[in-house]
Amino acid sequence: AARAVVVVAAGSGTRLGIGTAKAFVPVAGERMLVRALRTILTLPEPTIVVVVAPADRMDECRALVTEVAGAAGEYTTIVPGGADRHASVQAGLAALPDSVETVLVHDAARCLTPAAQFERVFDAVAAGLTVEADAHAIGVGVVPALPVTDTVKRVTGDVVVETVDRSALVGVQTPQGFPLAALRRAYAVAERAETDDAGVFQAAGGVVRTVPGDADAFKITTRWDLGRAEAVVAERAA
Ligand code: CTP
Ligand code: MG
Repeated sequence: AARAVVVVAAGSGTRLGIGTAKAFVPVAGERMLVRALRTILTLPEPTIVVVVAPADRMDECRALVTEVAGAAGEYTTIVPGGADRHASVQAGLAALPDSVETVLVHDAARCLTPAAQFERVFDAVAAGLTVEADAHAIGVGVVPALPVTDTVKRVTGDVVVETVDRSALVGVQTPQGFPLAALRRAYAVAERAETDDAGVFQAAGGVVRTVPGDADAFKITTRWDLGRAEAVVAERAA
C-alpha cells in the first residue's frame, strides 16, 4: 500500500491520572487504542498501520492488534515509543517501508475520530502531491482544523494585553498527513519545541493546509474528556 497511518499510543496519560498508559484506558468498555484501530481498519484502501506503543506493553499491544485486526494484522507493525511524542513519531516513521508515499500521524487519544476525517486528510495530501509538488519543494502537509469558539486573550502574567482576533485562529487535530519522505526529512532537522507534526513540517519549509476537522476528534486528556467521550459513544449507540 502506498499509504500508511502511524498511531502514537506510547504516552503515559499523566493528566488523565488513572495510573496506566492512556491508550489502554477503556472508553465505555473498549480501550482507546482499540477504538482508534477499528476506525482505521474500515478505510477502504489498503493502509499500512504502525502502532507506537509503550516499551513495556509491546506484547499486550500485539495481542490487542490481533484481536482487532485479525488477518489484516499482518499489515500492522508495533514499535516501542520514546520519551516524548516527538520521539514516538520518529520511531513510527522509521518503521515504515520507503514505498509509502503518504503518511498520516494520529493520536490514539483522539480515539473517536471518524473515518471520514482520515479520508479528507488522505485526499488533501494526494491533491497537494499532484497539484503543488513542483511549487513547494518539500510538499504539502494537511491538518484537520476547527474554528476557535472561545474569546482568546494575550496575557502577561495575569494582565490582559489584548484580545486576539479569533477569526484568524483555528484549533488543529489529528490525523495530520504528509508526503512520507518530506516528513522524515523535517523530523531529521527539527527542534523539539514544536507541539505537532505540522509544526515540525512547517519549520522545515513545508506548506501546511487545513481541511475541516470534527468535534468528535477531540483529544482525551483529562477525566472530563473521558466522560465526554463516553457520552459520545452512548449517543452513537442510541
Ligand atoms: N504519545 C506518545 N509517546 C509519548 C508521549 C505521547 O506516543 N512519549 C502519544 C500519546 O499516546 C497520545 C498522543 O501522543 O496518543 C498525544 O499525547 P498526550 O495527549 O499528551 O498523551 P500523554 O502524553 O499520554 O498524556 P499526558 O501528557 O497527560 O501524560
Ligand atoms: Mg503528553
